Amino acid sequence: MSTLITGGTGFIGAQIVHLLLEKGEKDLVVFDINPSTKLLNDVADQVEIIRGDLGNFSHVLNIVKKHRPNVIYHLGGMLSVPSDADHAASFRANAMGTFHVLEAAKLFEVPQVFFSSTLATYGLDIREDVIDDYTLQRPMLFYGCTKVFCEHMGLFYKRKYGLDFRGLRYPSIVGPGVKTPGIVQYTSWAIEECAKGNPFTIWVKPETKCAAMYFKDAALAIVKLSEAPLANIKMVNYVVGGATPIASAQDLADVVKDRIPAAQIDFKPDPEIQKVVDKLALPVDDSIARKEWNWNSEYDQERIVDDFLEELRVNPERYA
Ligand SMILES: NC(=O)c1ccc[n+]([C@@H]2O[C@H](COP(=O)([O-])OP(=O)(O)OC[C@H]3O[C@@H](n4cnc5c(N)ncnc54)[C@H](O)[C@@H]3O)[C@@H](O)[C@H]2O)c1
Repeated sequence: MSTLITGGTGFIGAQIVHLLLEKGEKDLVVFDINPSTKLLNDVADQVEIIRGDLGNFSHVLNIVKKHRPNVIYHLGGMLSVPSDADHAASFRANAMGTFHVLEAAKLFEVPQVFFSSTLATYGLDIREDVIDDYTLQRPMLFYGCTKVFCEHMGLFYKRKYGLDFRGLRYPSIVGPGVKTPGIVQYTSWAIEECAKGNPFTIWVKPETKCAAMYFKDAALAIVKLSEAPLANIKMVNYVVGGATPIASAQDLADVVKDRIPAAQIDFKPDPEIQKVVDKLALPVDDSIARKEWNWNSEYDQERIVDDFLEELRVNPERYA
């Protein structure tokens, strides 16, 4: 029996691979359209990496048929900025890709699928001053539209076929080596560029507070969710918060400047991005995740910056 990680050469997927190996798991199979071993360089000999496209049903069926996983961590897909730039590609990778994973799980009797959704499934018509599991999901971005659809497909397969589907709505994930553009990727790039000695311009207002989670917490969250007894899983798709309290862009700049005194960070808000981010810049209430599967974020803003800088120091080639 193996564990399949789609998108496993990516930012969060690779960290899940590391965490599962640390926990002593074996037979990990990574499926990704980009079979790069960069983020997996230290463990490449312990993992099978297979190139494939989630949008191609044969590719997904073949890998599930061949490896018969008992668990699928489904992280593969396109993020917000590329999805808004190419809707057709995003529909294929995210919406069709998730449909293919769910169908393959049904046909080859994979018992569990764990899915990575996003806070970008929220956006329009939020009536409260907090985002929780009951907040209306009306996304502003095409990316969020695909993820809402995937969450509901997962619920459908759970209801109709008894699949143990569970999903997480991640906030913005912070960590070293992020390459994929995203509307709040300044939360990572401000740290990384300053560590390299480069100046950095943050494209939102200094007071903007956007929920963010460290990549090690992101991997921990989905693994913790996977370990919870099925009887505890009532909400199925969960909001998860990250660093608490939520830091503003100015707080982030202050911690970076404290750790790297020569850091040069300034602010030039992009009005279009600010509009989207403002809709999501609300506190996150993840009390249901805490109650049902004991979720607890381990990294606040200061710990994020400290560990991030340490990662860059210890693994420079991984994040170059
Ligand atoms: N990074 C964030 O801030 C964030 C926030 C919320 C949710 N998420 C979700 O978490 C998941 C992982 O994101 P990430 O930050 O690691 O991004 P990432 O871009 O580093 O990883 C995604 C991986 O999916 C692969 N992929 C893309 N299209 C594919 C396809 N058609 N077939 C197979 N593989 C494909 C990419 O090659 C990449 O390795 C995504 O589903 C994303 O929507 C990420």
